[in-house]
Amino acid sequence: MLFRVDKDTGTVKPVQIESELGVSKPGDATWEFAKKLALCAATNHLSLVRHFNGVHLASAAHLAIATRNCLFPDHPLSRLLWPYIFRTQQSNRAVTRAQMVKGGDFDSVFSFTHTGMCNLFSGTYVQYKFIVNDPEEDARDRGILKGGFDTPTQNDLEQLFSIFFRHASAYVHIYYESDAQIAQDAAVQNWITELDGSIPNGIKAVLRGGITRDSVSRLIARFMYLVTVQHDIVGSFLWNYQLWAHKQPTRMYRNGNRMPLDAYQRLVNANFNLNVPRTPLMNDFSDLIRADDNKRAEAIQALNDFQKGLKDLETKWRMESWHVWRVYPKLLEVNINA
Ligand SMILES: [Fe+2]
Repeated sequence: MLFRVDKDTGTVKPVQIESELGVSKPGDATWEFAKKLALCAATNHLSLVRHFNGVHLASAAHLAIATRNCLFPDHPLSRLLWPYIFRTQQSNRAVTRAQMVKGGDFDSVFSFTHTGMCNLFSGTYVQYKFIVNDPEEDARDRGILKGGFDTPTQNDLEQLFSIFFRHASAYVHIYYESDAQIAQDAAVQNWITELDGSIPNGIKAVLRGGITRDSVSRLIARFMYLVTVQHDIVGSFLWNYQLWAHKQPTRMYRNGNRMPLDAYQRLVNANFNLNVPRTPLMNDFSDLIRADDNKRAEAIQALNDFQKGLKDLETKWRMESWHVWRVYPKLLEVNINA
């Protein structure tokens, strides 16, 4: 799909789609059908590749496992990350059993056969890019900065990320007085080695300069962003779009048949599942700091400052006009368990 910048509106407009129908351009007889096909591909990609494979299996699962293996239960970073990894494995297991099996939600609702879906998961798992959880790096990687068009969503995501980074950095600086101290922490070294070995394509490349307070803070901010913002964008937020199956179908038939009603009902059910309330990110997590922790007061202050940062952003955005695509802090959930 090819987009071109429309300078008058500061947006991008689709100008060409290549599909099984050949090359389609606006005004062609195949254009509307080609658009629907492109949206169908996008909604499959979001649900299967970005959401379940990317967030749940390729990254958040490894975060939960490595944190338990290397930092559990009382390392300060384990205490910080606990809400973000709570019940990740349990949820991944439940979804794998209910949605990935033959006749499960995935092959009943989306475009792939069971074998096709398994091949899609295997093929895209190894292509996973952890950097999607860092909006600045991701935008650079995708080449969308200074493209001559407005990027309101991107600007929002950068603001959210900066709150995570400030928080992680404040917390890390409480427990480590120098870069040398964190670099010599064997538990942190093991944690990073395990994450690097398990997340497809590793994380060492994104650490740059090795283990420092800054690089570890940025890594933690990316994990927080992964299980909150990224997970909601590719998960529960689909509710706002995916149910319009006449515009953005999860599957299309060559003979022109509509999506069967039972498949649509399963899609509604699956989307409903994604919207069952989980623990919100805007919440008091100060109980997680140990009572005998000699940095307790400072750590709780850092957690409270983070909550204040989220609250201030929520207030600011709520005073502006409402946008369906906006990731308001109050909507965010602290972990990915279903
Ligand atoms: Fe999810």
